[in-house]
Amino acid sequence: MSVELSQRLEAAPVVPLIAENDAARAVSTAKALADGGLSVIEVVLRSNDAQKGMEAILAETKGLIVGAGTVLTLDQAKSVRASGAQFIVSPGLVDDIARYCLDEGIPFFPGTMTAGEVQRAYALGLREVKFFPASLAGGVPMLKALSSVFRDMRFMPTGGVSAANLTDFLQLPCVLACGGSWLTPKEAVAIGDYSQITKLASDAVAIAQSAR
Ligand code: 3PG
Repeated sequence: MSVELSQRLEAAPVVPLIAENDAARAVSTAKALADGGLSVIEVVLRSNDAQKGMEAILAETKGLIVGAGTVLTLDQAKSVRASGAQFIVSPGLVDDIARYCLDEGIPFFPGTMTAGEVQRAYALGLREVKFFPASLAGGVPMLKALSSVFRDMRFMPTGGVSAANLTDFLQLPCVLACGGSWLTPKEAVAIGDYSQITKLASDAVAIAQSAR
């Protein structure tokens, strides 16, 4: 992981997800998150034009670290890399994407939820993984169990994380950061209520500061 990404996550260990098909709304959402203190943003590829939104954020904002999530294939990984993605997230672990990201030196967070998956990521040379879906995969007790054996692996729990359980996850030393969509509610984005998104982001920053 780059020093800069590591420092940003150290300062504010929360990665909001943007799932938006409209590029202008994606940019406004990213700016609202940044205003609230969150500068590492994952744009998930769950609609046809999501990647255009990521490209627009990269072009129209400054100082953000923007990655692509829900990357399912090696071709997608290459494409988002070419578009400027600064990190890549997948829901599961695919070896060819992992090898590509390691070769390119781009941070890669594959979803893992079992000891076998974490060990495969470890064997590939990864030392940071997503823990997904965090709440259904056993939450804090499962992370405690996994980190007791994978002592130098760091996890990014995502899936079911919210303001209500953020503290519990962030209090674990093995947690690098938490990801989630609770910071970008669909209804708020749809009606352009960006002040709500900024408030959710600044609340998350405050929770993270008292948890760490
Ligand atoms: C992901 O892509 O990581 C999850 O779908 C996010 O889960 P959440 O919507 O519960 O935050």
